[in-house]
Amino acid sequence: MKKAKLIINKDFKIGQIDKRLYGSFIEHLGRAVYGGIYEPTHPTADSEGFRQDVLDLVKELNVPIVRYPGGNFVSGYNWEDGVGPKELRPKKMDLAWSSIEPNYVGTNEFASWAKKANSEVMMAVNLGTRDGDAARNLVEYCNVKEGTYWSDLRISHGIKEPHNIKVWCLGNEMDGPWQMGAKTAYEYGRTACEAAKLMKWTDPSIELVACGSSTYYMSTFAEWESIVLSETYDHVDYLSLHMYFNNHKDYLPDFVAESIDFDKFIKSVVSICDYVKAKKKSNKQINLSFDEWNVWYHSCEQDKSVPRWQVAPPLLEDVYTFEDAILVGCLLINLIKNCERVKIACLAQLVNVIAPIMTENGGDAWRQTIYYPFMHASNYGRGVALIPNIESDKYDGRKYKDVPYLEAIATVNEENDELTIFAVNRCPGEELLLEATLGGFSGYKVTEHISLYGFDPKERNTKDLRKVKPSTLSGSTEVDKELLKSKLPPLSWNVIRMKK
Ligand code: AHR
Repeated sequence: MKKAKLIINKDFKIGQIDKRLYGSFIEHLGRAVYGGIYEPTHPTADSEGFRQDVLDLVKELNVPIVRYPGGNFVSGYNWEDGVGPKELRPKKMDLAWSSIEPNYVGTNEFASWAKKANSEVMMAVNLGTRDGDAARNLVEYCNVKEGTYWSDLRISHGIKEPHNIKVWCLGNEMDGPWQMGAKTAYEYGRTACEAAKLMKWTDPSIELVACGSSTYYMSTFAEWESIVLSETYDHVDYLSLHMYFNNHKDYLPDFVAESIDFDKFIKSVVSICDYVKAKKKSNKQINLSFDEWNVWYHSCEQDKSVPRWQVAPPLLEDVYTFEDAILVGCLLINLIKNCERVKIACLAQLVNVIAPIMTENGGDAWRQTIYYPFMHASNYGRGVALIPNIESDKYDGRKYKDVPYLEAIATVNEENDELTIFAVNRCPGEELLLEATLGGFSGYKVTEHISLYGFDPKERNTKDLRKVKPSTLSGSTEVDKELLKSKLPPLSWNVIRMKK
């Protein structure tokens, strides 16, 4: 049996977890919108055409903010195409995904869906083919109450009250050559700065996210962040990070250790933000928005043969495995560990497109394997994150060396006196004996030990078979005063819930 120690103390805090850490993302891509959240002919559709079965699953995930409408899509999007009478809306070529966009769903419909999902909208503007002018008009359309051209247009579209959208993304992945209107760091920095000024002059209460690199592995990474922030610093609030993981080498020990690079990426971006802060002798802190993260690789090959120029083709429909859920658990733990600076994060995406929820057009909706760690973290990982001192047995992979078998974090929700430990045992062959010292938590008792475990790493949930789901372990965890002992099953995601 492998062994690990965790020491936490009630007074040693990382910081408050911003609930927006458990955000997600809906792009006009594949079947995320059409056949995902919206399908007027579906038996569960409501009067606006939204699938209730999907909404129920989204609500279970407790997603406080959803980024929209892209993604690469937004860099060619004219938001005006998606408002007003549906019969007058144009069908457009979406050059990002070689698809046809019918514009049945646009800003107002999505805002209405988000409200039904108990979520806020995180709106991205097009800084690819457009600029600050279209962006500030959209802010006016969404957030100004009345009495101006764009706010009155919204009212004429039947939406009396403003949407009051708080968080706005200044474009998407503008460093990527695949992006419509891609820019150099300096070009983007200037465009984003001028757009930011107009948007905040229109509504000073909004918060803005500038684009960081598309991934840690871009050759322009770090230089890009530094230049973009140098140009935008006083006008933006967050810098974005994006990162997806693949498992092309199909080597489990390295795959479940990919969270090491995820953490390195976050820490590097924090350093760059603080470097620019120092350079500018500023008192302002830029925080991070990790607004695209997930596993993405299963669908890449099949997507090459999907015919182009269809409405809602089945794109990026990754069917996730049990091992993917373990990595997603590790990534969630690392987001919580970095909650002092990561204030927003969006699991990309939410429905059908690299998503925790899958649907069949006209049929069922179901939970993928990665649904569960996200649901647990989002529901139980609220409150304050505590500093995790970890001593664990380790292993060497091919890419990563000295990898601890234990990945863990503890959160305390002072509102309801709940302490939760999220823990992954990365070892596929053996249990991990966890001994945790819970400083300042005497009197807390285990209420539940939930575990996702016991499946073949390649096991998936599909339309016909959905075996991968968590179970409650009994007798595996005990607490005596401030000492917790728990047996974490081989290759498992664990949620140990305690209450005073
Ligand atoms: O989430 C899928 C795509 O990944 C997004 O459109 C883009 O921003 C990223 O490259």
